[in-house]
Amino acid sequence: MAQLWGGRFTKETDQLVYNFNASISFDQKFFRQDINGSIAHATMLGKTGIITEEESKQIIEGLNSILKEVESGELEIGMQYEDIHSFVEATLIDRIGDTGKKLHTGRSRNDQVALDMRLYTRDEIDNIKELLIHLMQTLHNLMKENIHTYMPGFTHLQKAQPVTFAHHTGAYMEMFKRDYSRLCDIYERMNYCPLGAGALAGTTYPLDRDMTASLLGFNGPTLNSMDSVSDRDYIIELLSALSTICVHLSRFSEEIIIWNSNEYQFIELDDAYSTGSSIMPQKKNPDIAELVRGKAGRVYGALISILTTMKGIPLAYNKDMQEDKELTFDAIDTVKGCIALFDGMISTMKLNKENMQRSAMNGFTNATDAADYLVKNGVPFRDAHGIIGRLVLYAIEQNKAIDELSLDELKSISPVFEEDIYDAISLETCVNKRNTIGAPGPEAMSEVIKANEEFLNSIQ
Ligand code: ARG
Repeated sequence: MAQLWGGRFTKETDQLVYNFNASISFDQKFFRQDINGSIAHATMLGKTGIITEEESKQIIEGLNSILKEVESGELEIGMQYEDIHSFVEATLIDRIGDTGKKLHTGRSRNDQVALDMRLYTRDEIDNIKELLIHLMQTLHNLMKENIHTYMPGFTHLQKAQPVTFAHHTGAYMEMFKRDYSRLCDIYERMNYCPLGAGALAGTTYPLDRDMTASLLGFNGPTLNSMDSVSDRDYIIELLSALSTICVHLSRFSEEIIIWNSNEYQFIELDDAYSTGSSIMPQKKNPDIAELVRGKAGRVYGALISILTTMKGIPLAYNKDMQEDKELTFDAIDTVKGCIALFDGMISTMKLNKENMQRSAMNGFTNATDAADYLVKNGVPFRDAHGIIGRLVLYAIEQNKAIDELSLDELKSISPVFEEDIYDAISLETCVNKRNTIGAPGPEAMSEVIKANEEFLNSIQ
């Protein structure tokens, strides 16, 4: 047991209590942020004369040597310490002696851990943004290549109207653009430095909080010391944003699984992104898509956990908040893995364009356009809807698509039909004439693709 306190205690901590309380096994994950936060604090203590410049220099050198050695693996983070803060401070004192004991002047582990967690999540938001940019680039490329790749669009998983693969992919592009902007918003809102809040009530030392905030790249210091040590809103927001990313990845994965099925065969996943069965030799399974779909549950769990943990905690710091770490780390690592793997999976999959097109041509996906044809020729829409309904029934009996019926057959249902009906309900017309912005027609798609290109250029 190595802990930073004990003066007022007459007994050793019970070993089980110690183990239950300790966080070193997981908070070592932010050793870098802990040391960098301490370097900023020591710099400020020196500059403000709270400790001497010489002491500040010694502390910073000591901290830098610890950082280097932990990074290179020369120095191992010992599990006998209560938490990462204790490990760093004890190692510093080991190295530079009594001067090391001055590092914690005007600081508490409460503001220290609040800082470390913010620095860590801030760094990870940047990492996740990078992964999202890469994924959006992959989607962008797929969109550019598939403006004319026809496929059925579905509602209720029933064929509805024809769209293109670019259009379908573009729907996810919009979702990931919003996910990206959510991360940017969260970053801005959380980017205030809690260091200097002390245990809860600030300190009597003349700390320069603006200086530490700016040394660590924050927009400024937080404005209420009690809030600073007990705010975990940014974690709730982040886990909510990560959960939303998971919703999107999971829905897309579900579609990949459907499209990759023997029944659909719209796509074929690359061998490198598929797995086999131990018993059925013919199997090639979409395990990665299934795992991405499944892991969403884990990330939602983290969001529910933190919300539940935070809901009844009185101000200010309480140990409950230590529970924020493992679940946040796990959610971040899970989402990073999901985005990267999903990206690789869709950039290597092959599209069976003929199957997609054939599927778009049956299932009466042009029924709405047939009704619109009648409307354009003077039939009120509600009547047209009824006529085409009867026409579809007739076509089902004949086992034919609408455009496979002869003009005489069409006329027997409505005399309004003329030869130009075939052109009006061809697959190309159904898609290519839909050119209001946001629709699948090639002109509309080209405009959106151009806007996406500009967006991607602006964030890279
Ligand atoms: N491991 C603790 C946490 O994660 C650090 C803060 C400890 N503060 C305290 N007063 N015990 O929240």
